Amino acid sequence: MKRCDHTAAWAALQGHFEAHGRGFDLREAFARDAGRFQALSFEAPEVFADLSKNLLDTATLHFLLDLARECGLEARRDAMLRGEPVNTTEGRAVLHTALRAPEGQGPHSAEVHAVLNDMLAYADSVRSDWTLTDIVNIGIGGSDLGPQMAVKALDSFSKAGQRLHFVSNVDGHDLAPLLQRLDANKTLFIIASKTFTTQETMANAQAARDWFLSHGGHAISKHFVATTTHVQAAAAFGITTTFGFWDWVGGRYSLWSAIGLPIAIAIGSENFRALLAGAHAMDRHFAEAPLAQNLPVLLGLLDVWYRNFHGFGSRSVAPYHQGLARLPAFLQQLEMESNGKCVDLDGNALPYATSPVVWGEPGTNGQHAYFQMLHQGTDVIPVEFIAVKTPAHPWAGQHQKLLANCLAQSQALMLGKSTAQAAAESAPTASASLAPEVLARHRTFPGNRPSTTFVLDTLNPRSLGALLALYEHRVFTSGALWGINSFDQWGVELGKALCNQLLPRLASSASLGDTAGLDASTAGLLRRLLS
Ligand code: F6P
Repeated sequence: MKRCDHTAAWAALQGHFEAHGRGFDLREAFARDAGRFQALSFEAPEVFADLSKNLLDTATLHFLLDLARECGLEARRDAMLRGEPVNTTEGRAVLHTALRAPEGQGPHSAEVHAVLNDMLAYADSVRSDWTLTDIVNIGIGGSDLGPQMAVKALDSFSKAGQRLHFVSNVDGHDLAPLLQRLDANKTLFIIASKTFTTQETMANAQAARDWFLSHGGHAISKHFVATTTHVQAAAAFGITTTFGFWDWVGGRYSLWSAIGLPIAIAIGSENFRALLAGAHAMDRHFAEAPLAQNLPVLLGLLDVWYRNFHGFGSRSVAPYHQGLARLPAFLQQLEMESNGKCVDLDGNALPYATSPVVWGEPGTNGQHAYFQMLHQGTDVIPVEFIAVKTPAHPWAGQHQKLLANCLAQSQALMLGKSTAQAAAESAPTASASLAPEVLARHRTFPGNRPSTTFVLDTLNPRSLGALLALYEHRVFTSGALWGINSFDQWGVELGKALCNQLLPRLASSASLGDTAGLDASTAGLLRRLLS
């Protein structure tokens, strides 16, 4: 396994970038090559991807595929899928793919399907229990973002009369207003935590239990359930119904496990199985498709091309489907917690950049906020559009407007508008005080700004599963090329430790002014907060 910068392909890519990458012009590329869309659009299970509005051509892909081969991407992928301990800093296998393999296939099949069957039977019983009107998932990070995102995405599959809520923040402003609206004996709390030690989740779980008991709640055993790898800790909390999973399921890859319980309650067992099946179809594609047709691989390579050669520091995700409103937040954890690393597998400092900042909002909302910067700002930020062909609502006219907006944005980013074009248009009257040529410069769009467009036929459990697995494997690909461990998250630990040290200073008024040993800024802020 070679690190990307130690390969001949990396050097070749540097040469290719200088010769063809830096000055690449999308408009010229389309004018030159009538087959560009066909050559650079790809089919994967449930997802069509148009990569043709990106700053590359088939020659670039050729070099990038050489890089993948020279880095041993396929061997690394196969090692992960076989269950080798590719998470080396924690000595763990990484087997979220096993969670969606059909029964009898893949590692750990018997235990995976035993828990899955139990969890889904329980989910269906909750779903058909009309005495439970509100389900509250208490969890954070991977124990919140995936389920929350998927429940919203699949809202049209959920059952009327049962509401799903998600509480994650240790800030009591998250839980308190929700509890005010709930009836203890009609509420089910799911305490979701891989470790069952996370400060925020434990604090919220404790507060929910206290509220439950003080608001006439009977039977913790019926109204609290846990999803965790730490079954004993859940029992010590007083929870008798627990659905377990395993240390080889990373938090940000856990929505396919028992952590998916709120999704299963929302959409039912059959639809949850369709979600798994969609992800499995993408897993097969990732495992079996030739690299040159392998969509997650191509996207991961594109990410390396943009981050390390073009130097782009962020990527904006624009889902043109309101159901995918939480997808950017989910992807932030998936991508930035996985690939926000600065040492390689051997602990050597990396001489190149890794994870970009991933961010976004659903279209068309983002258009009326930050798209100004995407079109005319000084940074080039690749945009990822997600369009869905058929909506789940009846308003064809609105859907046409949504899709027209989606297509128009990628077109505008690419085409831009020259100063001459701007000058030729009639200027708005409000700007009459400016000389026409000055105004035309303000109304110029540089263009040549890259984007990818994904198209799903419909947003349903199967297509969502495939889309999410696509993102997971894409992150794996760029992480493998960068030679990092995409499956640990040591970067979150220091803040947790310092928080635990500061907590006693905040917890007791007797410690007012106890700032011994603190830096001047933290000491000043602490005194201010305690005063
Ligand atoms: O602090 C980061 C993290 O460990 C994430 O990786 C994880 O998804 C989240 O906290 C929640 O952890 P847990 O499920 O163990 O409560």
